[in-house]
Amino acid sequence: MKDSPIILGITGASGAIYAKRFLQLAKKKNFAVELIITKMGEAVLKHEACHSILQHKKIHRIDDFFAPPATGSSRYSGMAILPCSMGTLGRVAAGTSNNLLIRAADVCLKENRPLVVVPREMPFNEIHLENMLKLKRAGAIIMPACPHFYKHPESVEDVVDTVVERVFNSLVLR
Ligand SMILES: Cc1cc2nc3c(=O)[nH]c(=O)nc-3n(C[C@H](O)[C@H](O)[C@H](O)COP(=O)(O)O)c2cc1C
Repeated sequence: MKDSPIILGITGASGAIYAKRFLQLAKKKNFAVELIITKMGEAVLKHEACHSILQHKKIHRIDDFFAPPATGSSRYSGMAILPCSMGTLGRVAAGTSNNLLIRAADVCLKENRPLVVVPREMPFNEIHLENMLKLKRAGAIIMPACPHFYKHPESVEDVVDTVVERVFNSLVLR
């Protein structure tokens, strides 16, 4: 395995396939990933038929504040929140640290480690936009789930990968 592990946070926004493809890409590139999944993240990934994510070998409990991602003394390359709900976005921006995912994001910001937030909502209201600006100013990288089409994707996976590859590269090519 290369470098320190990456933390992948999965929330209850639509787009579990982004997380699924991220895990597949990280495995291909030989990077270890530790998962933190919110309760709604689990419900939505099941609803979107991405159950295979739950077979991942390292999944931290969402309420386990004794887990390594909760402290800055643990070594991680960085964290992606993919997909990121507006609820989690707002809680990270507010610094609530009231579940392990939000605490892990808070730790990344305080330790100056890359935190890539991939919001998924449409349209954004003013509160969402203000929270994104707040996080950007605090050091996060805001990468909305905006796929591109200029390489002529032929499948849903191809489309999804245009986002996933950018997120992955933001974490590892630094
Ligand atoms: C099928 C489904 C899709 C959803 N998609 C989104 C979404 O794309 N963006 C969003 O912000 N919330 C979405 N929600 C609502 C969130 O799941 C809800 O706000 C939840 O409280 C988020 O909790 P979490 O941030 O702890 O995961 C969706 C809910 C369901 C049931």
